[in-house]
Amino acid sequence: MGRVAVDDLRRRKAQGGKITMLTAYDYPMAKLVDESGVDVVLVGDSLGMVVLGYETTAAVTMEEMLHHARAVRRGVSRAMLVGDMPLSAINGSAKDAVRHAKRFVDDAACEAVKVEWRAGIVETVRDMVAAGIPVMGHVGLTPQTATEEGGYGVRGKDADSASRIIEQAAALEQAGAFAVVLECIPDVVAKEITGRLKGPTIGIGSGPHCDGQVVVIYDLIGLYERLKPRFAKRYANVADVIRQSVKTYVQEVNSGAFPGKAQTATMSPEEFERLKRGLND
Ligand code: KIV
Repeated sequence: MGRVAVDDLRRRKAQGGKITMLTAYDYPMAKLVDESGVDVVLVGDSLGMVVLGYETTAAVTMEEMLHHARAVRRGVSRAMLVGDMPLSAINGSAKDAVRHAKRFVDDAACEAVKVEWRAGIVETVRDMVAAGIPVMGHVGLTPQTATEEGGYGVRGKDADSASRIIEQAAALEQAGAFAVVLECIPDVVAKEITGRLKGPTIGIGSGPHCDGQVVVIYDLIGLYERLKPRFAKRYANVADVIRQSVKTYVQEVNSGAFPGKAQTATMSPEEFERLKRGLND
């Protein structure tokens, strides 16, 4: 099977199938995620928090995103690869935003970019699409501006805010976005948007009625412990596996159990004798 394309995702929605999307930030994880059959790999700006250790995603630079996107590209051969536009690349002029989006495509060989909802984004999406760049939108909880908007809680809990989110998703699709991420909105609102849009919706914390789901890979495998989103389901506890492995390594180095014979390079006694003779000459 070839690489997953926009038309495959549209077809999946039309046929009532589900779409899977996960984040990845480096080559080994990208390769594992791709080999395991995920449809879309997102180099999310969550990178800023879960890999680079920033307090929020707002500090992530375009150079950081590209550095990681290039590594992820080397590991992904089947899934669609999407680069997440960081705040710093989207809060200037639309012209600059299009230039940055092009870098995801030209410098990191991404197939698409993702943009979070903000004032003026509809025109920017239109310009990106006109420049030939496939765009995925993102509405509901938008982490880049979450602090200004009262924190990281559920969005669209009342009819007025829900109808604004429904309008935003529709406006993004009209501007040419081929899919829209719905983050932390009530399941019934997600269902309403999913029914209205032609393109797929990808949910995170928004219930089962979306056309697909996206998760931050470190939440799924239990590797990022600073925050645990209420909606995240842990399928493994990789942090404990790493801690335990490192503790055992430290103990074994201290006790002399590591390195053992299998991890040690050797020389024949005859060659060693010859070496010593040579050294003494
Ligand atoms: O940055 C990210 O990882 C995201 C996903 C959670 C959708 O935007």
